[in-house]
Amino acid sequence: AVPATTVPAELDDVAFPVARACPFAEPAEYAWARERSPVRKVRVRGGEEAWWVSRLAEGRTVLADPRFSSDRRRDGFPLPGADKAVRERFRSQPPSMIGMDGEQHAAERRALIGEFTVKRLAALRPRVQEIVDGFIDDLLAAPDRSADLVRALALPVPSLVICELLGVPYADHDFFQNCTAKLVSRSTPDDERGRAVDDLRGYLSDLITRKEAEPGDDLFSRQLARRREQGELDRPGLVSMAFLLLAAGHETTANMISLGVVGLLSNPDQLAALRADPGRTPMAVEELLRYFAIVEAATARVATEDVEIGGVTVAAGEGIIVSGLSANRDPAAFPDPATLDIARGARHHLAFGYGPHQCLGQNLARLELQIVFDTLFRRVPTLRLAVPIDEVTFKPDAVIYGAAELPVTW
Ligand code: HEM
Repeated sequence: AVPATTVPAELDDVAFPVARACPFAEPAEYAWARERSPVRKVRVRGGEEAWWVSRLAEGRTVLADPRFSSDRRRDGFPLPGADKAVRERFRSQPPSMIGMDGEQHAAERRALIGEFTVKRLAALRPRVQEIVDGFIDDLLAAPDRSADLVRALALPVPSLVICELLGVPYADHDFFQNCTAKLVSRSTPDDERGRAVDDLRGYLSDLITRKEAEPGDDLFSRQLARRREQGELDRPGLVSMAFLLLAAGHETTANMISLGVVGLLSNPDQLAALRADPGRTPMAVEELLRYFAIVEAATARVATEDVEIGGVTVAAGEGIIVSGLSANRDPAAFPDPATLDIARGARHHLAFGYGPHQCLGQNLARLELQIVFDTLFRRVPTLRLAVPIDEVTFKPDAVIYGAAELPVTW
């Protein structure tokens, strides 16, 4: 195949990332691009062009290469669908770690890594189990044996867990969940998205002020103390960090919970195999992460110098998007990739990214997902969708894919 350095005529009218028509299949354009060349030019939503990386091997190469920057303030950084106002906003606020490079990023990550060690997470396990059991008690108390699983379980579990870890009052969950939902939906008008960012930043700034006066046993208080010891307190930087952790800490896992339930209920043989041997849950979680690849455009970068990759030269200043969904459906890496197979045992997927920015919260997410699926299918063995699958509303337009609501019964 000849690598294209301009958008091929076949893709002229297609904007990437392409909206998913259903939760189970990748857009047909992805396989088309993957078969022809692993790195090719596409049109990104909003009109600009960027390189599209569709295979796993090249995806990992890009994400591990420090010549590709995560700094959203740089010209050429692909921000699908973002207008000028959104770009300006990125420039006017200090980046969180997801938008930093090199030593600055490494230092920020070092400051937080101790909060997510295996030991820390093992200590959290009993509390996560208690939280999941509490919400399932409430679910089972529904007099008509039906509920929206997003509202009843998928959103509250990771929200309460991250609130306790960070030191955010859970009573404020409606507020921060709504702000985050507006932020990740591409159909939110830009001014409204801007307001959601300002509101959430304002809220977190006030919260940090309160923690300065009255520290608690939580991540925000520990970060405050740590930064104080090191000298000057960078308040806007701390707010950016808090923003990333709160938003990434609940919205992502919530979508994986609801999609995981959809995936297992739609593949009864897989669910039966899981029920027969709950020891398989960690593998099932890994496969569901691969299969749904809910985060797509976050693994975008911009080249800081000319880079040869996949048979093409990405020029300095050009944007590049590694598609987690396309990479996770790469038949060269995952045989029969469109099949959900909980026995696959493949951990080299890109659901959490790869390289220096690989998801900081991945083991927390795994812990929550394992406990939720184990507990839900054990305690609610007759769980089923309350409507046909094609009546479930998904979020084809969101930066993080998921179900908008999930009517279930038992
Ligand atoms: C980064 C996915 C859960 C915090 C990332 C990245 C992906 C991702 C793909 C890489 C972005 C890049 O390369 O630029 C997911 C998925 C999750 C999940 C699919 C759930 C199933 C969480 C949770 C937290 C979290 C629970 C909570 C603390 C972060 C942070 C980063 C990150 C702080 C930035 C890391 C860095 O820049 O070094 N996540 N995430 N994530 N995630 Fe997650």
